[in-house]
Amino acid sequence: MRTLLVGVGAVGGVVATRLRAAGVPVVLAARDAASAERLRASGLHVSGVGGPASAAAGDVAPLDALAEDGGFDLVVLATKARDAIDAAPRAARLLAPGGVLLPIQNGGVAQVLGDRLGACVLGGLSNLGATMAAPGVYEQRNAGHLLVGELAGGASERAERVRAWLGRGVEVRATANLAGAIWSKLVVNCSVTTLGAVAGRTLRDYVATPVGRAAFERTYDEALSVALASGARPERMLVEPIPPGWSGRSVPGPAHEAWVASVIAGYGDARPSMLQDFDRGRRTEVEFINGYVAALGPRHGVPTPVNAAIVEVVEAITRRELAPDPGLLARIVQAGG
Ligand SMILES: NC(=O)c1ccc[n+]([C@@H]2O[C@H](COP(=O)([O-])OP(=O)(O)OC[C@H]3O[C@@H](n4cnc5c(N)ncnc54)[C@H](OP(=O)(O)O)[C@@H]3O)[C@@H](O)[C@H]2O)c1
Repeated sequence: MRTLLVGVGAVGGVVATRLRAAGVPVVLAARDAASAERLRASGLHVSGVGGPASAAAGDVAPLDALAEDGGFDLVVLATKARDAIDAAPRAARLLAPGGVLLPIQNGGVAQVLGDRLGACVLGGLSNLGATMAAPGVYEQRNAGHLLVGELAGGASERAERVRAWLGRGVEVRATANLAGAIWSKLVVNCSVTTLGAVAGRTLRDYVATPVGRAAFERTYDEALSVALASGARPERMLVEPIPPGWSGRSVPGPAHEAWVASVIAGYGDARPSMLQDFDRGRRTEVEFINGYVAALGPRHGVPTPVNAAIVEVVEAITRRELAPDPGLLARIVQAGG
């Protein structure tokens, strides 16, 4: 498969390095000519889980410098969410007939691109944890995998082909329920990651207060309601996505307490990754996480005031009008009425 990977950051860098090191040819698209030049000079180097690997950056250029008749059978979009949405139409023009565009961002990106660009989009998700220390220098942080599958559900020959091809470098799994997997991660990102970043605390910390617990439950309940209303069947990740006895909202009781304890055991101590965006003054992906829930809810008749309020607070933090603080959770709970 003639392959282009767009975005050689943390995840893209690990994937590109491991593919190249395994002898799988892949053309790389960096943001601009200067970043392409930096990558050519540095080469590609991965450390961490899965062992070290190095390779030459080789064929690397800005997306705009690639000829429109690129003839790629596969374009992997490994940028952040907003950049993926912006770059996708250009990337799609580089596909050969029958070629596949594979976004691997969190949240609603794959579905948004599928709605806009149609059948060329194969859904994807990264459970691969990675960081970038400098251009060309990456660390794989977990034994995670890329997940690919049809947005409409079901198995497909092309998902299997992409799995086998990229699987020569990194672990890739194909699923017949990609939408379910996307939503399983999304409901956790909406509540654990975003609320943790807003509070500037881990889930274990912020959920210990009554207002923190209320913020968690309302955010989770809204996101799960939208997932189910959209027809998705969220799958088990570390915990069951649907709390016991759930009736469109969390139902207090011993079974629910045990479920919350399992969420805390699974996700309670991770530093919310969105805090890094706040620290670096970078745009977050909230628009495609809580913002996706807030945009989709009304289309399915599900009110989403809490997730909408979270987006506003996160954007105010990004603009430095607010700072992460557990006190902000009260404002979010109040928005739910
Ligand atoms: N990192 C993780 O552990 C992890 C885990 C699970 C899911 N994800 C998801 O995976 C996606 C990528 O995350 P990441 O951490 O790898 O992000 P990242 O480190 O910021 O990498 C994104 C890269 O894409 C580049 N880029 C942006 N626009 C581009 C364009 N038009 N053409 C070519 N390159 C472009 C960026 O360049 P600049 O630096 O110049 O902006 C950056 O090098 C996100 O949606 C994230 O949520 C990440």
